Amino acid sequence: MNNKKQIIVSGTRPSGKLHIGNYLGAFRQWLELQDDPDNKCFYLIVDLHALTTPFESKILRHSILDFAATFLALGIDPNKSVFFLQSHVLEHSTLAWIFNCFTPMGELERMTEFKDKSKLNAANINAGLFCYPTLMASDILLYKPTFVPVGEDQTQHLELTRNLARKFNNKFGKTFPEPKNYALKSLRVKSLSDPTKKMSKTGDEALLLDDSPTEIHRKLKKAVTATTSGGKSPGEENLMFLLTHFGTPADVVYFIEEQNKGTLKFSELKETLAKRIADYFAEFREKKKELLSRPEELAESLGEGSRKAREVASRTLLEIKEKIGLL
Ligand code: TRP
Repeated sequence: MNNKKQIIVSGTRPSGKLHIGNYLGAFRQWLELQDDPDNKCFYLIVDLHALTTPFESKILRHSILDFAATFLALGIDPNKSVFFLQSHVLEHSTLAWIFNCFTPMGELERMTEFKDKSKLNAANINAGLFCYPTLMASDILLYKPTFVPVGEDQTQHLELTRNLARKFNNKFGKTFPEPKNYALKSLRVKSLSDPTKKMSKTGDEALLLDDSPTEIHRKLKKAVTATTSGGKSPGEENLMFLLTHFGTPADVVYFIEEQNKGTLKFSELKETLAKRIADYFAEFREKKKELLSRPEELAESLGEGSRKAREVASRTLLEIKEKIGLL
Protein backbone atom coordinates (compact mmCIF):
# COMPACT_ATOMS: atom_id res chain seq x y z
CA MET A 1 0.00 0.00 0.00
CA ASN A 2 1.25 3.46 -0.83
CA ASN A 3 2.05 5.06 2.52
CA LYS A 4 1.34 8.55 1.32
CA LYS A 5 -2.29 7.80 0.86
CA GLN A 6 -4.79 9.21 3.30
CA ILE A 7 -6.63 6.44 5.07
CA ILE A 8 -10.37 6.81 5.39
CA VAL A 9 -12.63 4.56 7.47
CA SER A 10 -16.38 4.61 7.71
CA GLY A 11 -19.11 2.18 8.61
CA THR A 12 -22.82 1.79 8.37
CA ARG A 13 -25.39 -0.28 10.22
CA PRO A 14 -27.28 -2.70 8.03
CA SER A 15 -30.72 -1.65 9.10
CA GLY A 16 -33.74 -0.29 7.32
CA LYS A 17 -33.84 0.88 3.75
CA LEU A 18 -31.67 3.61 2.34
CA HIS A 19 -33.34 6.71 0.97
CA ILE A 20 -32.07 9.56 -1.15
CA GLY A 21 -31.36 11.59 1.99
CA ASN A 22 -28.86 8.96 3.12
CA TYR A 23 -27.47 8.90 -0.39
CA LEU A 24 -26.87 12.64 -0.74
CA GLY A 25 -25.95 13.13 2.91
CA ALA A 26 -23.39 10.36 3.22
CA PHE A 27 -22.94 7.65 0.68
CA ARG A 28 -22.39 9.77 -2.38
CA GLN A 29 -19.55 11.34 -0.41
CA TRP A 30 -18.13 7.89 0.33
CA LEU A 31 -17.98 7.37 -3.42
CA GLU A 32 -16.28 10.70 -4.00
CA LEU A 33 -13.65 9.87 -1.38
CA GLN A 34 -13.10 6.46 -2.96
CA ASP A 35 -12.55 7.97 -6.38
CA ASP A 36 -9.80 10.29 -5.19
CA PRO A 37 -6.58 8.38 -5.93
CA ASP A 38 -4.92 9.96 -2.87
CA ASN A 39 -7.26 8.04 -0.58
CA LYS A 40 -7.41 4.49 0.58
CA CYS A 41 -10.88 3.76 1.92
CA PHE A 42 -12.05 1.06 4.30
CA TYR A 43 -15.84 0.79 4.29
CA LEU A 44 -17.52 -1.70 6.53
CA ILE A 45 -21.00 -2.93 7.24
CA VAL A 46 -21.16 -3.03 11.03
CA ASP A 47 -23.17 -6.19 11.49
CA LEU A 48 -22.01 -6.69 15.10
CA HIS A 49 -23.35 -3.27 15.98
CA ALA A 50 -26.68 -4.37 14.52
CA LEU A 51 -27.01 -6.86 17.39
CA THR A 52 -27.21 -4.10 19.99
CA THR A 53 -30.86 -3.32 19.24
CA PRO A 54 -33.68 -5.88 18.80
CA PHE A 55 -33.36 -7.92 15.60
CA GLU A 56 -34.56 -11.08 13.90
CA SER A 57 -32.01 -13.43 12.40
CA LYS A 58 -33.71 -13.87 9.04
CA ILE A 59 -34.22 -10.18 8.54
CA LEU A 60 -30.71 -9.38 9.70
CA ARG A 61 -29.16 -11.82 7.24
CA HIS A 62 -31.27 -10.39 4.46
CA SER A 63 -30.39 -6.81 5.41
CA ILE A 64 -26.67 -7.52 5.39
CA LEU A 65 -26.83 -8.94 1.87
CA ASP A 66 -29.14 -6.16 0.79
CA PHE A 67 -26.77 -3.49 2.11
CA ALA A 68 -23.79 -5.14 0.48
CA ALA A 69 -25.60 -5.25 -2.86
CA THR A 70 -26.75 -1.66 -2.42
CA PHE A 71 -23.25 -0.31 -1.88
CA LEU A 72 -21.70 -2.30 -4.69
CA ALA A 73 -24.50 -1.24 -7.02
CA LEU A 74 -24.04 2.39 -6.00
CA GLY A 75 -20.43 2.19 -7.06
CA ILE A 76 -18.29 1.02 -4.16
CA ASP A 77 -15.51 -0.61 -6.14
CA PRO A 78 -13.81 -3.53 -4.37
CA ASN A 79 -10.70 -2.88 -6.46
CA LYS A 80 -10.38 0.61 -5.04
CA SER A 81 -11.92 0.34 -1.57
CA VAL A 82 -11.71 -2.37 1.04
CA PHE A 83 -15.38 -3.21 1.49
CA PHE A 84 -16.16 -5.79 4.17
CA LEU A 85 -18.21 -7.09 7.06
CA GLN A 86 -17.18 -6.18 10.58
CA SER A 87 -17.96 -9.66 11.93
CA HIS A 88 -15.60 -11.26 9.40
CA VAL A 89 -12.59 -9.52 10.88
CA LEU A 90 -12.30 -10.92 14.39
CA GLU A 91 -9.69 -8.34 15.35
CA HIS A 92 -12.49 -5.79 15.74
CA SER A 93 -14.09 -7.54 18.70
CA THR A 94 -10.75 -8.39 20.31
CA LEU A 95 -9.65 -4.78 20.21
CA ALA A 96 -13.08 -3.68 21.44
CA TRP A 97 -12.54 -5.84 24.53
CA ILE A 98 -9.13 -4.29 25.11
CA PHE A 99 -10.62 -0.82 24.72
CA ASN A 100 -13.43 -1.69 27.15
CA CYS A 101 -10.77 -2.21 29.76
CA PHE A 102 -9.47 1.31 29.16
CA THR A 103 -12.82 3.06 29.17
CA PRO A 104 -14.47 4.30 32.36
CA MET A 105 -18.17 3.43 32.56
CA GLY A 106 -18.89 7.11 33.14
CA GLU A 107 -17.64 8.00 29.69
CA LEU A 108 -19.94 5.49 28.05
CA GLU A 109 -22.87 6.56 30.21
CA ARG A 110 -22.52 10.08 28.85
CA MET A 111 -23.02 9.06 25.22
CA THR A 112 -26.18 10.65 23.86
CA GLU A 113 -26.85 7.79 21.47
CA PHE A 114 -26.73 5.33 24.37
CA LYS A 115 -29.14 7.45 26.35
CA ASP A 116 -31.54 7.83 23.41
CA LYS A 117 -31.49 4.17 22.46
CA SER A 118 -31.89 3.09 26.07
CA LYS A 119 -35.03 5.16 26.28
CA LEU A 120 -36.37 3.60 23.10
CA ASN A 121 -35.61 0.04 24.23
CA ALA A 122 -36.00 0.25 27.98
CA ALA A 123 -36.59 -3.52 28.11
CA ASN A 124 -33.32 -4.34 26.35
CA ILE A 125 -30.50 -2.14 27.57
CA ASN A 126 -27.78 -4.67 26.93
CA ALA A 127 -24.07 -4.42 27.59
CA GLY A 128 -23.42 -4.42 23.82
CA LEU A 129 -25.43 -1.23 23.44
CA PHE A 130 -23.44 0.28 26.28
CA CYS A 131 -20.09 -0.71 24.74
CA TYR A 132 -21.09 0.23 21.20
CA PRO A 133 -18.60 3.14 21.09
CA THR A 134 -15.54 1.03 21.98
CA LEU A 135 -16.36 -1.35 19.15
CA MET A 136 -16.69 1.65 16.85
CA ALA A 137 -13.33 2.94 18.10
CA SER A 138 -11.84 -0.45 17.16
CA ASP A 139 -13.41 -0.32 13.69
CA ILE A 140 -11.63 2.95 13.24
CA LEU A 141 -8.27 2.64 14.96
CA LEU A 142 -7.33 -0.77 13.55
CA TYR A 143 -6.81 0.98 10.22
CA LYS A 144 -5.00 4.03 11.65
CA PRO A 145 -6.99 6.45 9.54
CA THR A 146 -6.52 10.12 8.85
CA PHE A 147 -10.22 10.82 8.43
CA VAL A 148 -13.51 9.32 9.44
CA PRO A 149 -16.47 10.64 7.48
CA VAL A 150 -19.47 10.55 9.79
CA GLY A 151 -22.59 12.59 10.31
CA GLU A 152 -23.11 14.94 13.23
CA ASP A 153 -24.79 12.27 15.33
CA GLN A 154 -21.52 10.32 15.47
CA THR A 155 -19.11 13.09 16.46
CA GLN A 156 -19.35 12.21 20.14
CA HIS A 157 -18.32 8.61 19.39
CA LEU A 158 -15.44 9.88 17.31
CA GLU A 159 -14.34 12.12 20.15
CA LEU A 160 -14.30 9.10 22.44
CA THR A 161 -12.21 7.30 19.82
CA ARG A 162 -9.70 10.13 19.75
CA ASN A 163 -9.52 10.11 23.55
CA LEU A 164 -8.87 6.39 23.57
CA ALA A 165 -6.12 6.82 20.97
CA ARG A 166 -4.52 9.57 23.03
CA LYS A 167 -4.77 7.63 26.28
CA PHE A 168 -3.30 4.53 24.67
CA ASN A 169 -0.45 6.48 23.05
CA ASN A 170 0.41 8.19 26.33
CA LYS A 171 0.59 4.94 28.21
CA PHE A 172 2.21 2.65 25.61
CA GLY A 173 3.93 4.95 23.13
CA LYS A 174 2.69 6.35 19.84
CA THR A 175 0.49 3.75 18.25
CA PHE A 176 -2.59 5.43 16.84
CA PRO A 177 -3.27 8.64 14.97
CA GLU A 178 -6.07 10.82 16.33
CA PRO A 179 -8.38 10.61 13.35
CA LYS A 180 -10.24 13.72 12.36
CA ASN A 181 -13.85 13.94 11.45
CA TYR A 182 -14.25 14.45 7.76
CA ALA A 183 -17.47 16.35 8.28
CA LEU A 184 -19.93 15.13 5.74
CA LYS A 185 -21.45 18.06 3.91
CA SER A 186 -24.68 18.32 5.70
CA LEU A 187 -27.16 17.94 2.86
CA ARG A 188 -30.51 17.70 4.51
CA VAL A 189 -33.20 16.24 2.37
CA LYS A 190 -36.58 16.87 3.92
CA SER A 191 -39.54 14.58 4.36
CA LEU A 192 -41.99 14.67 1.44
CA SER A 193 -45.01 14.66 3.74
CA ASP A 194 -43.67 17.12 6.34
CA PRO A 195 -40.91 19.18 4.75
CA THR A 196 -40.08 20.90 8.02
CA LYS A 197 -38.57 17.57 9.17
CA LYS A 198 -35.65 15.50 7.93
CA MET A 199 -36.43 12.66 5.52
CA SER A 200 -36.42 9.42 7.50
CA LYS A 201 -37.17 5.88 6.58
CA THR A 202 -40.89 5.48 6.95
CA GLY A 203 -43.95 5.54 4.74
CA ASP A 204 -44.52 7.84 1.82
CA GLU A 205 -42.33 10.60 3.13
CA ALA A 206 -39.08 9.02 1.93
CA LEU A 207 -37.87 8.21 -1.57
CA LEU A 208 -36.06 4.90 -1.20
CA LEU A 209 -33.18 3.98 -3.47
CA ASP A 210 -35.09 0.79 -4.27
CA ASP A 211 -38.30 2.56 -5.29
CA SER A 212 -39.53 1.78 -8.79
CA PRO A 213 -40.21 4.68 -11.19
CA THR A 214 -43.93 4.25 -10.51
CA GLU A 215 -43.37 4.54 -6.76
CA ILE A 216 -41.17 7.60 -7.21
CA HIS A 217 -43.86 9.28 -9.32
CA ARG A 218 -46.59 8.36 -6.85
CA LYS A 219 -44.70 9.66 -3.80
CA LEU A 220 -43.57 12.88 -5.44
CA LYS A 221 -47.05 13.59 -6.70
CA LYS A 222 -48.26 13.56 -3.09
CA ALA A 223 -45.35 15.65 -1.79
CA VAL A 224 -46.55 18.55 0.36
CA THR A 225 -45.82 21.97 -1.15
CA ALA A 226 -48.33 24.11 0.69
CA THR A 227 -46.97 27.21 2.31
CA THR A 228 -47.82 28.21 5.85
CA SER A 229 -46.28 31.63 6.13
CA GLY A 230 -46.17 33.09 2.62
CA GLY A 231 -43.06 33.03 0.42
CA LYS A 232 -41.47 29.81 -0.71
CA SER A 233 -42.75 26.83 1.21
CA PRO A 234 -40.30 24.33 2.75
CA GLY A 235 -41.76 21.72 0.39
CA GLU A 236 -40.95 23.86 -2.65
CA GLU A 237 -37.43 24.45 -1.39
CA ASN A 238 -36.96 20.74 -0.84
CA LEU A 239 -38.09 19.87 -4.36
CA MET A 240 -35.86 22.55 -5.85
CA PHE A 241 -32.99 21.25 -3.75
CA LEU A 242 -33.52 17.78 -5.15
CA LEU A 243 -33.70 19.24 -8.65
CA THR A 244 -30.25 20.80 -8.26
CA HIS A 245 -28.89 17.32 -7.52
CA PHE A 246 -30.83 15.17 -9.93
CA GLY A 247 -32.08 17.54 -12.65
CA THR A 248 -30.19 18.63 -15.75
CA PRO A 249 -28.68 22.14 -15.76
CA ALA A 250 -31.43 23.12 -18.18
CA ASP A 251 -34.12 21.87 -15.75
CA VAL A 252 -32.64 23.98 -12.99
CA VAL A 253 -32.50 27.13 -15.14
CA TYR A 254 -36.04 26.56 -16.37
CA PHE A 255 -37.63 26.04 -12.96
CA ILE A 256 -35.75 28.91 -11.34
CA GLU A 257 -37.08 31.16 -14.09
CA GLU A 258 -40.58 29.86 -13.49
CA GLN A 259 -40.15 30.54 -9.76
CA ASN A 260 -38.97 34.07 -10.45
CA LYS A 261 -41.86 34.76 -12.78
CA GLY A 262 -44.28 33.32 -10.25
CA THR A 263 -45.54 30.78 -12.75
CA LEU A 264 -44.04 27.65 -11.28
CA LYS A 265 -46.36 24.66 -11.59
CA PHE A 266 -45.70 22.10 -8.88
CA SER A 267 -47.20 19.33 -10.98
CA GLU A 268 -44.67 20.04 -13.71
CA LEU A 269 -41.75 20.27 -11.25
CA LYS A 270 -42.77 17.00 -9.60
CA GLU A 271 -43.14 15.27 -12.95
CA THR A 272 -39.66 16.34 -14.11
CA LEU A 273 -38.08 15.51 -10.78
CA ALA A 274 -39.69 12.06 -10.67
CA LYS A 275 -38.39 11.29 -14.13
CA ARG A 276 -34.87 12.49 -13.33
CA ILE A 277 -34.65 10.61 -10.03
CA ALA A 278 -36.05 7.44 -11.62
CA ASP A 279 -33.48 7.71 -14.43
CA TYR A 280 -30.63 8.54 -12.06
CA PHE A 281 -31.12 5.31 -10.14
CA ALA A 282 -32.10 3.12 -13.12
CA GLU A 283 -28.66 1.59 -13.50
CA PHE A 284 -28.41 1.13 -9.73
CA ARG A 285 -31.69 -0.80 -9.62
CA GLU A 286 -30.58 -3.12 -12.44
CA LYS A 287 -27.17 -3.72 -10.96
CA LYS A 288 -28.53 -4.40 -7.51
CA LYS A 289 -31.05 -6.91 -8.86
CA GLU A 290 -28.28 -8.67 -10.72
CA LEU A 291 -26.03 -8.78 -7.63
CA LEU A 292 -28.81 -10.16 -5.44
CA SER A 293 -29.56 -12.86 -7.98
CA ARG A 294 -26.07 -14.27 -7.34
CA PRO A 295 -25.64 -14.21 -3.56
CA GLU A 296 -22.61 -16.56 -3.73
CA GLU A 297 -20.67 -14.00 -5.74
CA LEU A 298 -21.72 -11.29 -3.37
CA ALA A 299 -20.47 -13.34 -0.42
CA GLU A 300 -17.26 -14.05 -2.31
CA SER A 301 -16.65 -10.35 -2.86
CA LEU A 302 -17.25 -9.60 0.83
CA GLY A 303 -14.90 -12.44 1.75
CA GLU A 304 -12.20 -10.94 -0.43
CA GLY A 305 -12.71 -7.53 1.18
CA SER A 306 -12.49 -9.07 4.64
CA ARG A 307 -9.21 -10.79 3.75
CA LYS A 308 -7.74 -7.45 2.74
CA ALA A 309 -9.03 -5.76 5.89
CA ARG A 310 -7.64 -8.54 8.06
CA GLU A 311 -4.14 -8.06 6.64
CA VAL A 312 -4.10 -4.56 8.07
CA ALA A 313 -6.13 -5.25 11.20
CA SER A 314 -4.06 -8.22 12.30
CA ARG A 315 -0.86 -6.22 11.98
CA THR A 316 -2.25 -3.45 14.18
CA LEU A 317 -3.61 -5.89 16.74
CA LEU A 318 -0.27 -7.66 17.00
CA GLU A 319 1.43 -4.33 17.66
CA ILE A 320 -1.13 -3.55 20.38
CA LYS A 321 -0.85 -6.95 22.04
CA GLU A 322 2.90 -6.64 22.19
CA LYS A 323 2.68 -3.19 23.72
CA ILE A 324 0.22 -4.14 26.42
CA GLY A 325 1.98 -7.36 27.36
CA LEU A 326 -0.20 -10.04 25.83
CA LEU A 327 1.64 -12.94 24.19
N1 TRP B 1 -21.98 4.20 14.70
C1 TRP B 1 -22.01 4.52 13.30
C2 TRP B 1 -23.42 4.95 12.90
O1 TRP B 1 -24.38 4.59 13.55
C3 TRP B 1 -21.62 3.33 12.46
C4 TRP B 1 -20.19 2.95 12.65
C5 TRP B 1 -19.73 1.85 13.28
C6 TRP B 1 -19.08 3.65 12.15
N2 TRP B 1 -18.39 1.78 13.18
C7 TRP B 1 -17.94 2.87 12.51
C8 TRP B 1 -18.90 4.85 11.45
C9 TRP B 1 -16.67 3.29 12.19
C10 TRP B 1 -17.62 5.26 11.13
C11 TRP B 1 -16.51 4.48 11.49
O2 TRP B 1 -23.57 5.62 11.92
